[in-house]
Amino acid sequence: MQPTLCLAGVAFFALLTVQGGLALKDVRLVTRPGNGVVRRGSAITLICEYDLEGAPLYSVKWYRGNREFFRHVPNETPSTEMFPFQGLNIDREQSHDNKVQLVDVGFNLAGNYSCEVSADAPSFSTDFVSHYITVVALPDKRPVVTAERPDYEVGDVLRANCTSGISRPSANLTFYINDVPVSADDVRHFPARLTTDLMESSQIGLVLTLRPFHFTSQSRVTIRCDATILNAYAETAKVTVKSRLDVPLHARDLPVSSAAAIEPKPERVTSPNRTGSALLASGPFWRANLVMWVALVLVVCS
Ligand SMILES: *[C@@H]1O[C@H](CO)[C@@H](O)[C@H](O)[C@H]1NC(C)=O
Ligand SMILES: *[C@@H]1O[C@H](CO)[C@@H](O)[C@H](O)[C@H]1NC(C)=O
Ligand SMILES: *[C@@H]1O[C@H](CO)[C@@H](O)[C@H](O)[C@H]1NC(C)=O
Ligand SMILES: *[C@@H]1O[C@H](CO)[C@@H](O)[C@H](O)[C@H]1NC(C)=O
Repeated sequence: MQPTLCLAGVAFFALLTVQGGLALKDVRLVTRPGNGVVRRGSAITLICEYDLEGAPLYSVKWYRGNREFFRHVPNETPSTEMFPFQGLNIDREQSHDNKVQLVDVGFNLAGNYSCEVSADAPSFSTDFVSHYITVVALPDKRPVVTAERPDYEVGDVLRANCTSGISRPSANLTFYINDVPVSADDVRHFPARLTTDLMESSQIGLVLTLRPFHFTSQSRVTIRCDATILNAYAETAKVTVKSRLDVPLHARDLPVSSAAAIEPKPERVTSPNRTGSALLASGPFWRANLVMWVALVLVVCS
């Protein structure tokens, strides 16, 4: 036990010393707009953040995949240099020091971008980080929700569709009824409709037997559809259908079993994490855990 501990201590100390001598840390590639998502035809700025801890900078080099396309070397004249890359347009004014701005970005520029920072003498330490850049085209129009009919009763089958405008990638669509997510079992996914440039329109359908809890106290059912594309786009569409009778539900004669179900409740089944914790909390699992920990403590401390 003792020699092992001693060895580990020495190794740890050695690591600390080496790290301290690097004089380059916290290298990060951030983008504006954030998360590396840019709209086709617009600009994105890549910023290479680093901490040289006071050491002099030798260079910041930029790569797409393995190809270098831009370099900043403060001690050279000119201090910046560009290397031609098919379809990649750099705004020279906006590109210097630790940043580079790409303009009029096309789909073909999506990919892995990296910056490499090097410190000058004496350490010459170098670090390298990457960030994936996604090029998107947002939908040409808002999503649309349509219901088959304007009015429905308890027991009727509600049929509705949600269609997004064409985009790349195609939008993710999600149905809600009165702001409660709809169970996946009630949602149909229609094949995406492809256009030129791999632009796609998404469409989903809802087929569901209406139950009392689907109606609000005003006898309304609001079908909402959210369309999202990564963190770059979020739009909502809604359609409200109503009971033909248009009489408040609680004022009607309902079978007792249905009346009991009036309370709105989420359609979704219990989330997996809840299932997990419920299992852990139940007797046998909990006891097994305790036994395991006691055994571990006994072994380590003996
Ligand atoms: C990005 O490129 C770098 C260098 O070529 C590589 O180390 C990294 O794994 C790549 N990342 C992805 C997500 O492809
Ligand atoms: C939903 O879309 C499908 C397929 O495009 C179509 O057959 C159906 O009639 C549509 N239903 C409604 C309610 O719009
Ligand atoms: C759609 O949702 C999935 C799962 O959450 C996600 O991985 C994917 O990136 C999303 N796509 C878009 C276009 O937002
Ligand atoms: C399940 O996880 C989600 C996201 O991590 C969280 O918002 C939610 O509260 C969790 N639910 C339970 C029952 O732990």
